[in-house]
Amino acid sequence: MSFRLQPPAPARPNRCQLFGPGSRPALFEKMAASQADVINLDLEDSVAPDDKAQARQNVIEAIGDCDWGTKTLSARINGLDTPWWYRDVVDLLEQSGDRLDQIMIPKVGCAADLYAVDALVTAVERARSRARPIGFEIIIESAAGIANVHEIAAGSPRLSAISLGAADFAASMGMQTTGIGGTQENYYMLRDGARYWSDPWHWAQTAIVAACRSHGLLPVDGPFGDFSDDEAYRAQARRSATLGMIGKWAIHPRQVALANEVFTPSAEAVAEAREILAAMQAAKDRGEGATVYKGRLVDIASIKQAEVIVRQAELFALRPAAQ
Ligand code: COA
Ligand code: MG
Repeated sequence: MSFRLQPPAPARPNRCQLFGPGSRPALFEKMAASQADVINLDLEDSVAPDDKAQARQNVIEAIGDCDWGTKTLSARINGLDTPWWYRDVVDLLEQSGDRLDQIMIPKVGCAADLYAVDALVTAVERARSRARPIGFEIIIESAAGIANVHEIAAGSPRLSAISLGAADFAASMGMQTTGIGGTQENYYMLRDGARYWSDPWHWAQTAIVAACRSHGLLPVDGPFGDFSDDEAYRAQARRSATLGMIGKWAIHPRQVALANEVFTPSAEAVAEAREILAAMQAAKDRGEGATVYKGRLVDIASIKQAEVIVRQAELFALRPAAQ
């Protein structure tokens, strides 16, 4: 038992992060008009090497020109193992004004990666007297990243969210799959000849959730590649939400509504959470710490569980749909 209180995560909606390649400027207005809470303009792996410089300029222009409303606006820079990342940081911060909220750093493997970007960002911000410090979000998508996730989560005061990047993670781990998230055909238990599928992403997700919750960050589920299969996306997202993740990426616009649906607590779940709180208040008034709700035990821990759902509902009621 720790005497330290768990720090709260930032109170901003992050149900869906919609990605689009910086090399496809025709998508930017559509992204701005979407119902995603967070927009990620990508300079990294959806942009071909020859298009990197042009994509950077496209993104810089779009940050100033499009109406992003109340959305959190993020640009994904190239990895620290490339020749592009430093110019991504410098040009974005020097040329795009103050509307950009955060930089997403991919393939983070240790806390020093965050230190390096933080040092560069801090220098540019001081030189330019930037009014608002830029935030960081990162992707854990390598064996080193997941092994060092706790030190990474403590790596920079700019950090607010960590996503799991399933594709690069699978490659780095040497996983025998080309799937991006979801059920994997060969990952099953066998009993009496019947197959029961298990979840190969589970442990990485829970490691990220624990690191995030320990350090007051938002844990986010990353991409789901098969954008023609809504039910498979829902199933993956529901598992993530059950584990404590607060949102999921969309790599195609049809995934936005699915993420918003799964990561917004249902009216039934909110009503039940409020009933549990009322039942516990009545128990407290009787001088009891535990009581029975619908035939099951609820006690003081149940208050905290119910409050997670009620707090989410209140946050989304304040910011119903990102405009
Ligand atoms: N954001 C907003 N709108 C998008 C979009 C996106 N990421 N991707 C496609 N659209 C639009 C299309 O322009 C099209 O609009 P229209 O009906 O007005 O013509 C509509 O949605 C349907 O698009 P569709 O034809 O099904 O997709 P596509 O073949 O143009 O593109 C992808 C498919 C997967 C290549 C594209 O969605 C994409 O690049 N996604 C993001 C990839 C990415 O950023 N990866 C990095 C993170 S893993
Ligand atoms: Mg990746």
